[in-house]
Amino acid sequence: MNTGNGRNVVVVGTQWGDEGKGKLVDWLTESAHGVVRFQGGHNAGHTLVINGQKTALHLIPSGIMRPGVTCYIGNGVVLSCAKLLEEAEGLERAGVRVRERLRISQACPLILPVHAVLDLAREARRGAQDGQKIGTTGRGIGPAYEDKVARRALRVQDLRHPERFATKLRELLALHNQTLLGFLEAARIDFGDALAPYLKNGAVQFEPVYEEAMRHARAIEPMMADVSRELNEASRGGANLLFEGAQGTLLDVDHGTYPFVTSSNCVAGNAAAGAGVGPGALHYILGIAKAYCTRVGGGPFPTELAWETPGTPGYHMSTVGAEKGVTTGRSRRCGWFDAALLKRSAQVNGLSGLCITKLDVLDGLPTLQLGIGYELDGARIDILPLDADDIARCKPVYETLDGWSQSTVGVTRYEQLPGNAQRYLQRVEQLTGVPIHIVSTSPDREHTITVRHPFLAD
Ligand code: IMP
Repeated sequence: MNTGNGRNVVVVGTQWGDEGKGKLVDWLTESAHGVVRFQGGHNAGHTLVINGQKTALHLIPSGIMRPGVTCYIGNGVVLSCAKLLEEAEGLERAGVRVRERLRISQACPLILPVHAVLDLAREARRGAQDGQKIGTTGRGIGPAYEDKVARRALRVQDLRHPERFATKLRELLALHNQTLLGFLEAARIDFGDALAPYLKNGAVQFEPVYEEAMRHARAIEPMMADVSRELNEASRGGANLLFEGAQGTLLDVDHGTYPFVTSSNCVAGNAAAGAGVGPGALHYILGIAKAYCTRVGGGPFPTELAWETPGTPGYHMSTVGAEKGVTTGRSRRCGWFDAALLKRSAQVNGLSGLCITKLDVLDGLPTLQLGIGYELDGARIDILPLDADDIARCKPVYETLDGWSQSTVGVTRYEQLPGNAQRYLQRVEQLTGVPIHIVSTSPDREHTITVRHPFLAD
């Protein structure tokens, strides 16, 4: 690894998540001393392929795969101790040293079994009422963030104080069990084997949750840290930090397709608040965008294609791109690249540069459509609207470009890309107003085109 120049990079998804951030974070970590998660929880899922070996990570920053890099979980993350320890044990079995390199903010709100129960119960109710499920990952993310902003969350630091933990947990369960009882159907919902040990007659029991938390406390304690202080000190010492966003801009609770969003701010600005550094510490914002577009869960998606129909471009993206969620195994919906959506993302993130991933998936498609705007109620617009109902009524306006028949898999130099692939990328730059600094041509770490390296100063 290089000696640092105190430069910090934020990586964010610019679409609906699953843009391939994991590979890029891993690749950029070569130039970083620390990697920081700042929002979301184990709803995220990254697949890394290193020397042909696949590894899925949900909570632990992807930087853990590089020896010598310190990984941080910032205060903006909602933390399931059970999932964290499960993931750490899996990595350790594979020979990756985790515990001495992972620092966890004491201010992280905890995700407890009651949050997953509430998440699943609410989705079941939404489904029963009007079919408008959000399509959450069922991990309890939304309910955990609700407790945070309602100022009643149990936090990592509470694990150090068993009596305080017990008092707060009793209050929390009394409140949430009341809600669950209101869901008359809760007693009949199948919460699955993982949650069964905590439940009795549709209510979450104190003892199993408390006892498990105290067991976890002993394992987590050595990793608890004042992450804000450690990051500021590391920065002062010249360390390069990489802030790893989860989900994507259109899933941001403020700027996304609300209410079909996650419950945290996924935009770059939250890297500061969610880790405890000042906004001036974010030097370069890298937006990751797939060469096409995907979405899991419910909600509007203007450029969506008939991705389940064999022989169509959507089916090509779904199958060649292996578009299945890492966390839930659900198929991702697929569609054309939407430059008007990217414009919104560029605006709310302040992108310094773009990284286009999965360009190789488009190999062999004779023509490509590029979403350049929409028609909404008879008017032409060139940026994604804010209201999900308006987005659902948007009819995409496309520009047609010629495809390329050559394989781009593994290409590492821009000039080696087929002319039509270069023209496609140039048009994306023109339409979004953001320069493309990186192109990824396969899941492998080495298969990356660098136009400009984010860790090198201007
Ligand atoms: P939640 O984050 O589990 O509450 O789910 C809310 C929405 O965000 C759903 O549409 C999920 O499918 C979506 N979502 C959450 N995490 C990810 C992710 O890492 N990739 C893609 N979609 C996600």
